[in-house]
Amino acid sequence: MAHSQRVRAFLHQQIQQAGGWLPFSVWMHHVLYAPGLGYYAAGNTKLAETPSHHATALSGDFVTAPQLTPLFGQTLARQVAEILHQTDTLDVLEFGAGSGALAHDILSALNEMGLHVRYNILEVSADLRQRQQQRLAAWGERVTWLETLPTSFSGCVIGNELLDAMPVELFVWSEQGEVLERGVVSLAPVQAPDQAPNQTTNQTTDADSEGFFPGFAFQDRPAAPQLAATVQARMPALPGYTSEINLQAEAWIRDLGHWLTRGAALLIDYGFPRHEYYHPQRQRGTLMCHIQHRTHDDVFLAPGLQDITAHVDFTAIAEAAQDSGLSVLGYTSQARFLLNAGLPQVLEAYAQQQIEHPDPKARARTYAAVQKLISEAEMGELFKVIALGRGVQAPLSGFTQSDRSGQLVQSN
Ligand SMILES: C[S@@+](CC[C@H](N)C(=O)[O-])C[C@H]1O[C@@H](n2cnc3c(N)ncnc32)[C@H](O)[C@@H]1O
Repeated sequence: MAHSQRVRAFLHQQIQQAGGWLPFSVWMHHVLYAPGLGYYAAGNTKLAETPSHHATALSGDFVTAPQLTPLFGQTLARQVAEILHQTDTLDVLEFGAGSGALAHDILSALNEMGLHVRYNILEVSADLRQRQQQRLAAWGERVTWLETLPTSFSGCVIGNELLDAMPVELFVWSEQGEVLERGVVSLAPVQAPDQAPNQTTNQTTDADSEGFFPGFAFQDRPAAPQLAATVQARMPALPGYTSEINLQAEAWIRDLGHWLTRGAALLIDYGFPRHEYYHPQRQRGTLMCHIQHRTHDDVFLAPGLQDITAHVDFTAIAEAAQDSGLSVLGYTSQARFLLNAGLPQVLEAYAQQQIEHPDPKARARTYAAVQKLISEAEMGELFKVIALGRGVQAPLSGFTQSDRSGQLVQSN
C-alpha cells in the first residue's frame, strides 16, 4: 500500500501539471510504466510461476500461456522454425518477454531441431529485463536485449500478450451522438482554472479506504476531431456506449511494417474482430484489471499494484498491417493454431518422456495446462493468433485449418 500511495502522489502531480485532466491513455501509461512506480516497472511480482516449478498456490497476479507449460513454447517453436526456414534466417525477436520463460522454451525446442538461433528481446520494463537476464543467463551470447526498435529486421517476431498491455484511449458516445474522450481527474483539489466548459463527471471513486491520498475520477470531454472520426468510422453511434481504442498498438504495427524487411510476426492475445469488439451489447468495453488472480474493472483500485489491460481489436491490427505493406498471413483461435502447429506431436513426445521417466504429478499438471490452453471455455477461443508478414508464403502451418482472416475485413 505504501507503494500505491507513492504512485497516487505521482499521478496527482501529473494530472495537476497537465491542467487538471489526463487522457486515460496517458494515465494508464504512467500506472503501468512510470519508471520505479508503474506496475511493470517497479519490481512487484506479476507473472505466476510455472506450477511445475512451485507446487504451492499460484503466485503473482495472472498467468500467461508460457507460464502455464513449456509445451506452449515448444509448439510455437515449430511455427517459428517454418518462418525461419522460409526467410532463410536464424533471427528471432521477442517483444515483452515477461519472465523469459517463452524465450527459454523456444530456444530449447529450436536447439533440439538443430537451429541455433540468435534470440533478441525488446522489453520496456527494466525490472522484467533484469529477470529475463537471470532466467536466460545459461544461453550466454545467444540472447541479446535491444534498447530500441531495429531499423530493419529479417526473421521471426513474437509477442505474447504484448498488444493488450499497451495503453488505450477511452471513449464514450454522448446522448447527442457526439464522441467524448474519457480522461482522469484528481478528486483532490487541483488548480485547473481553464477546463473545458462542457465536461461532465460520469463516475467517481471513493477516497481510498486507508484515508491517505484521495482517489481519481473519470471526466469526459469532446474528443479531438481525429479520435472522433476514427471512432465514427468503426462503429455506429450508441448513446452511453463506452469502449476503448488502442491507437498505440496500431502505431506499433505500422512501425513493424517499416522495419520488418522479410519475415513474419506471430502475435498472440485475447480479442476479437471489430464487429464483435464493438458489439452493441459490449456497452462497457473490455478494460480489465488483474490482481492476485482476481479480475475486476475498477481501474482506480490500487494504482501500481494491479495490471490493467484491454482486449485487442484484431481488425484494427490487420488494417494497420495492410496500411504499412504487410500481409495478414493467418488469423485463428489459439486452440486451432496450437493444434495446427503440432501440439499433438509435442504431446506425443511428452507422453514418451513420461514412459521413460514417469512423474505422475508433473504429468497431471501438464495435461491440465494443455487443457486450459485449448479449452473453448478457457484460453482456447478468447485468445487469437495473428501472423503478419512480408516475403513469407501463406498458409503457414498454424493456420492450415480454420483460418479466420476473412472475418477481419468485415466492417461493423
Ligand atoms: C502481459 S505481459 C506478457 C509477458 C509475456 N509475454 C508472457 O506472455 O508471459 C506484457 C509484457 O509486454 C511488455 N511491453 C509492453 N509494451 C511493450 C512494448 N511497446 N515493447 C516491448 N515490450 C512491451 C511489458 O513490459 C511486459 O513484459
